[in-house]
Amino acid sequence: MDRRRRRPATELAGLFLCGLVLASTVGAFPAHGLTSLGDAPIRGMLWVAKGADPVRALASAPTECLRRAADPALAASVEIGRAAFRSTTLLGGQAGRAGITCETCHRGGRSNPDFLFPGVSGAPGTADVTSSLFSSHRGNGVVDPKPIPDLSGPKARLKVSQAPAEQALEPFIHGLITEEFDGPEPSPAVRQGLADYVRALSPAACPAKPRERLGVTLLMADTRRALTAARRSADIGDSATAIAMIGGARSRLGLIDERYAAPRLARARADLRAADRRLAAAQTALHDHRPDATAQIAAWLTASRALEAELAARQSASLFDPARLAASVKRRLPG
Ligand code: HEC
Repeated sequence: MDRRRRRPATELAGLFLCGLVLASTVGAFPAHGLTSLGDAPIRGMLWVAKGADPVRALASAPTECLRRAADPALAASVEIGRAAFRSTTLLGGQAGRAGITCETCHRGGRSNPDFLFPGVSGAPGTADVTSSLFSSHRGNGVVDPKPIPDLSGPKARLKVSQAPAEQALEPFIHGLITEEFDGPEPSPAVRQGLADYVRALSPAACPAKPRERLGVTLLMADTRRALTAARRSADIGDSATAIAMIGGARSRLGLIDERYAAPRLARARADLRAADRRLAAAQTALHDHRPDATAQIAAWLTASRALEAELAARQSASLFDPARLAASVKRRLPG
């Protein structure tokens, strides 16, 4: 057996990313010549490494290598994990404030060779797993960036055992969220879902195309999947998980919103924001244990097709359009 795999999960978690970036750090060490979030119309611009192709990094995404689970209960758990993996509300502290999700580093469940976070990364595609910048809990003060592992690569190459019987992944991910990233305690279903999601990533499930277009279609599909998971959780009375799932959905809508800031897109953006407020209202309903929460999510899902059509019709005028994105990047990142 590979010795590296026997490293206890807790120890590895201890070496993990210790919280995420101070807002001021973003300004102090711009990855790409940007001086503040205000300079970046798209947040993700802040962590595209110099030398990487920002248009490729921001206009497309790696495809996801997700095995379909035959067991319906497991499939539902994987969907919970999938949405949590993409949620900005999962991580706390500086990471949460910076809008970082698991998927920021493990894009599409893979790695991210273009990633460079000032003060956290060394070479592009790495992150410091031993600094204390990110966490109030952990940190050894040594600068030691490690390559972001491809979670969809061969399991034998990964350090934490994914054998369900060993139950090593669950505590590892829990430590990651609550200690490294200062996040709030996740619900048991979210914690289990993340482990089940990571286990379901497999090189055998990779689509033929390594990358796909990042745009309204992909992000609205993610939004709907997260809300389907939310509805299921609400149905069984798990409000905490349902609220987290809506958080995942709203995070995906946020990635659309930031690309529709131009005045010519004001109407589409206003409709998107109204839709987001309806999701916030559904979260409040869940929080208050009101019985209408499930109906609100269902109504949102039905109405989402019209919203998607409206957004898609305006997509070529948004920063999802590669040419507009290139022009925007060029304006902000001279040279
Ligand atoms: C800022 C970038 C970043 C974020 C955000 C991030 N990771 Fe990672 N992840 C890494 C790096 C770097 C490593 C490698 C750590 C090492 O080698 O010690 C890693 C390792 C892992 C591993 C262990 C892989 C192995 O070798 O067994 C898992 C599982 C994982 N991450 C899942 C997650 C989940 C789930 C989240 C969200 C809760 C997350 N990561 C958020 C960068 C990140």
